Amino acid sequence: MKLAVVKETTPDERRVAASPETVRKYVALGFAVVIEAGAGEGASFPDAAFAEAGATIVEGADAALADADVILSVRGIDPARLGAVKKGALLLGMLNPYQNGALLDSYAQAGLDAVALEFIPRITRAQAMDVLSSQANLAGYRAVIEAGYHFSRAFPMMMTAAGTIAPARVMVMGAGVAGLQAIATARRLGAVVSATDVRLAAKEQVESLGGKFVMVEDEEAKEAETAGGYAKEMSEAYKKKQAALIAETLKKQDIAITTALIPGRPAPRLITADMVRSMKPGAIIVDLAVEQGGNCELTRAGEVIEVDGVTIVGHRNLPSRIATDASALFAKNLLNFVTPLVDKETGALRLDLEDEIIAASLVVRDGTIVHPQLKGAA
Ligand code: NAI
Repeated sequence: MKLAVVKETTPDERRVAASPETVRKYVALGFAVVIEAGAGEGASFPDAAFAEAGATIVEGADAALADADVILSVRGIDPARLGAVKKGALLLGMLNPYQNGALLDSYAQAGLDAVALEFIPRITRAQAMDVLSSQANLAGYRAVIEAGYHFSRAFPMMMTAAGTIAPARVMVMGAGVAGLQAIATARRLGAVVSATDVRLAAKEQVESLGGKFVMVEDEEAKEAETAGGYAKEMSEAYKKKQAALIAETLKKQDIAITTALIPGRPAPRLITADMVRSMKPGAIIVDLAVEQGGNCELTRAGEVIEVDGVTIVGHRNLPSRIATDASALFAKNLLNFVTPLVDKETGALRLDLEDEIIAASLVVRDGTIVHPQLKGAA
């Protein structure tokens, strides 16, 4: 069985889907691991480290992909590289399936079986495979570091002979995986933190991290969480009440970190242009929802801009800015997905289509898009 890892081609993607540690484990499972030269460079995993772990390093994606039975990627592989893939090969990656119909179609035409890692259900058994959590956690951490970089003041309160520095006030919007890590990180740095969400369940989690929870608590909020633990799109009436609350809270903040998302929908707009203008001079907004349209009306994807003294950070792909740790955890998530697929006796790969995790995440199979939520997407 050949397992291939290619260099990512998405601009600014520094992560890689394997680490020397996981390569060692794949080799022990019986895989011949082939890695495109330079694939780990952006994550500080040199070819030599992969080779030492037992991988063969080859030049170019075609050589890596030829005859591969399993292909590991962070963001899928570029359609231009599909000429080299073998029919029936299993591709794993964050395929952004709701927005990538054409890409999935090209995988179907190439005869690949493709797993969209975002669709792995958030059940206990799959926790160790959950790329959304592993990457969002690091993105939340990194968002605070990015804010600190642009902030011209300190986070902690400091009492010095030259005077006292007040602690920074940080507000986190969306207290899911990324938001909770942002709260924890900002607290560790000494900030006074508040947070908001539409899910009531977030209250206890925010408070346990030392944050103050602010939210519109009405009848609708009791129903804001889906069975899967995600937020629903709220009504116009709720949005109005929430906007008033955010407007009032935001004025007093030095930093806002926004992470609010609704699966399969554009990110909710939580910060309007007027709210930005009401913030203190020198305030910072880091908008993690930028790839889904942004939580702030003025965020520009991929840019850092200043509006009336407020800096709005719109970096795409924050996990890529902490590429070594993000890759190590991502690689481990993939290893945890692949390991149970390998038949211990024969060493062959077996996809159990009845398995809840496979059924939920396999999006392309036998030349067609098979996922019920995506059929007809291409
Ligand atoms: P996400 O990335 O979809 O959204 C981020 C946060 O934004 C969520 O907390 C959501 O409630 C919030 N949000 C959405 N619309 C909002 C609005 N209009 N205003 C304010 N906040 C808004 O969510 P994530 O981080 O993926 O987590 C979703 C849920 O899954 C959480 O309940 C989390 O605890 C749970 N989870 C469970 C896991 C497991 O059991 N294996 C693993 C990871 C997360």
